[in-house]
Amino acid sequence: MQSLPGRPASFWIDTAPGEPFPVLERGRSFDVTVLGAGITGVTTALLLKREGLKVALIEAGHVAHGASGYSTAKVTSQHSLTYSNLRSHFGDDGAAAYGAANQAGLALIVRLSEELGIDCDLRRKPAFTYTESVEERDTVRREAEDALASGLPASYTEDLDLPWPVAGAVRFDDQAEFHPVKYLVALAQEVDGDGSAVFEGTRAVGVKDGEWPRVTTENGRTVTARHVVVATHAPFLDRAGFFARMHPERSYVLGVKVRGAVPQGMYISTQGHSLRAQPVAGGELLLVGGESHKLGHSDEVERYRALETYARERFDVASIDWRWATHDHIPHDGVPYVGRLAPFSKNILVATGFRKWGYANGSAAALMLTDRIAGRSNPWASTFDSTRLGPPQAASSFVKENANVGRRFAMDRLKRGTVSGIAPGGGAIVRDGLGQSAVHRDDEGRLHAVSARCTHLGCIVDWNDAERSWDCPCHGSRFDTDGSVLSGPAVAPLARRSVEDAGAD
Ligand SMILES: Cc1cc2nc3c(=O)[nH]c(=O)nc-3n(C[C@H](O)[C@H](O)[C@H](O)COP(=O)(O)OP(=O)(O)OC[C@H]3O[C@@H](n4cnc5c(N)ncnc54)[C@H](O)[C@@H]3O)c2cc1C
Ligand code: FES
Repeated sequence: MQSLPGRPASFWIDTAPGEPFPVLERGRSFDVTVLGAGITGVTTALLLKREGLKVALIEAGHVAHGASGYSTAKVTSQHSLTYSNLRSHFGDDGAAAYGAANQAGLALIVRLSEELGIDCDLRRKPAFTYTESVEERDTVRREAEDALASGLPASYTEDLDLPWPVAGAVRFDDQAEFHPVKYLVALAQEVDGDGSAVFEGTRAVGVKDGEWPRVTTENGRTVTARHVVVATHAPFLDRAGFFARMHPERSYVLGVKVRGAVPQGMYISTQGHSLRAQPVAGGELLLVGGESHKLGHSDEVERYRALETYARERFDVASIDWRWATHDHIPHDGVPYVGRLAPFSKNILVATGFRKWGYANGSAAALMLTDRIAGRSNPWASTFDSTRLGPPQAASSFVKENANVGRRFAMDRLKRGTVSGIAPGGGAIVRDGLGQSAVHRDDEGRLHAVSARCTHLGCIVDWNDAERSWDCPCHGSRFDTDGSVLSGPAVAPLARRSVEDAGAD
């Protein structure tokens, strides 16, 4: 693999060092156990603590090192082109509920950072979804009208500070951008103490349902509580078919220094390219995002290269300082799933499927989950209901996605690379006596072999050349080259294989 520009690390994680929280070392009992310390889990845990409940926040890795630590960190109710679709699929009330929930999520982030005095670079900004195509102008104008009718601070404009011509744009006023890791680490510190606790390095591997659901962790500990909230991005427990109702998409971000003016709003094009500025010592870093694809379905190096080309064509690039990527889950009808883990599951709740717009949506989910646990009704809960089947218009995308997973499940079993064909830094799926092995050759030429069967539901993993990981094309699990879990829904590592089993050819 030729080298890519920029440091391969998240700017957010690298610039927000925090004290680690302890591993859970003994069985404990709380009022609520929240699993996963991203925007959804941390916010939910804090709101519940403020309700007077004792909360355990349990994180497999580190606070905010999941998707929430690898985004472009716009906090907005504007989710590209959304409100026209919502009005036709969920009706006027559904679109208004989605908009109100997201505006409340945005307001919550602003309020908590002010109340707690968190230094997280929060700046109020307008957000724009723009098109460069005159043919799309009417669609964009209609989106502005539908968003306004849904109660959002929306207008149509052709006046943007981008250095290229724009045919039309939707503008939302008073949105925000921030440093998500600084924000979430400060919130987690607020959760810890007074009978509540945060645990890192503690992966949940099971939850037993009941009046007092019991969480089991990888290191064999148990936590009992009246309620469990599964906020692990993709729920590792799937008792309501979430994996059939959403799919994982990966996208890329470059942190770029440019010569000349840095655009000051937050932008996304209808083609999916995203821009925002971030203050850094001596100026502004421009975050350029995009090049989405279904996880495990593309050449990741090519995607980074395409994003670099886009940045260089559009700006006078002085340097590319950072690059990072993550994925999010796209619900088939466009609205996240928030509520019960399954129709029969009274005390286990879930929030997932944020469609790459998780800060306002995840904070809104925290408000909804808190209301549910506190026994209050919530005006947006039915629109986000996690057990819904979705509007009939979304059925075709549901069928297409599931056919695609079925095809990958069957066809990837025919994958046949050779060990000798693996270049240093590369990887391939190799057939052997035990089935298929995922084999990586490191820069020194050493081979590392693990089972190619994803421990979630058995799909065959795919080599990610840009990040040197094994990514599952079915539901978004990612594994390191030694087989350990990088992201769920899988909770168990890929089994180690000996290089001989993997069949040196
Ligand atoms: C490239 C890109 C850019 C984006 N930019 C934006 C943006 O500008 N604005 C926006 O609103 N959204 C954006 N998003 C989406 C946003 O990042 C996500 O929707 C959001 O971070 C999801 O938050 P979460 O809390 O659900 O998940 P996460 O942040 O992933 O948190 C889940 C946590 O659960 C932990 N976990 C997993 N399994 C277990 C287990 N078994 N036990 C214990 N812990 C576990 C994980 O380690 C993780 O820390 C972007 C997404 C992408 C792909
Ligand atoms: S993530 Fe579901 S099978 Fe791999």
